Amino acid sequence: MVLPRPIVFGNWKMHGLRVESEALAGALAERAKRLTATLGVFPPFTVLGEVAARLTGTGIMVGGQDCHERPKGAYTGSISAAMLRDVDASAVIVGHSERRHGLGESDALVRTKAETALAEGLLTVLCIGETEAQWLSDETLAVLDAQLTGSWPAGATAEQVIVAYEPVWAVGTGRTPALDDIERSHAAIRHRLQRLAVDGADVAILYGGSVKADNAAEIMAVPGVAGVLVGGASLDAAGFWSIYQAGGGA
Ligand code: 13P
Repeated sequence: MVLPRPIVFGNWKMHGLRVESEALAGALAERAKRLTATLGVFPPFTVLGEVAARLTGTGIMVGGQDCHERPKGAYTGSISAAMLRDVDASAVIVGHSERRHGLGESDALVRTKAETALAEGLLTVLCIGETEAQWLSDETLAVLDAQLTGSWPAGATAEQVIVAYEPVWAVGTGRTPALDDIERSHAAIRHRLQRLAVDGADVAILYGGSVKADNAAEIMAVPGVAGVLVGGASLDAAGFWSIYQAGGGA
């Protein structure tokens, strides 16, 4: 099933103890009476099961922020794709810049994680994005092409993978690319997707990086943008809901 657009995902990152997370999930559940588009949250592992339970029946998707590249084994501290499924997550983010750059995850590793997640039946949100230095030296399109080619899971389809374009310099900074630049990057990603996947024309491409209630509408109106991956602004239910509404969701 191709998800209804816009697709609005909230990545909670390392935020939220149980009380806060349950309150946030509860406040979203109250608003989500009958979803017309796609809404999803990616809470920390520790609260994933509780958030998933709280959101049961609302249509709001729940996913993990990462998974290990192996299905199981002696990997202290890691979480497998099957463990995510076991607590009723249906999706997972792989290749986030905070892991690529903060933890040194390579394209090859991200690709293996994506393949492992797909084997477990999880919708995979594959993140790519250029650094500020790459942006300034006009390497953006080449970097996106290389990251996508290097981390796209073999044989994947539009039903299985969503690509999130997140410029590293826009994540958590309050800065965003010009709308024309977002359009140009999304078009380049689409171009590559059409070579990587049989149904590459249908793969949803999200934008992420400093999306807020006041810029969400114009970003989601950019041709080729299927939705947004929101960090900081997804931690407030009212704000996150207005981002969802800004894209036409009700
Ligand atoms: P911010 O919305 O806080 O910039 O974070 C974006 C992000 O990294 C989502 O995955």
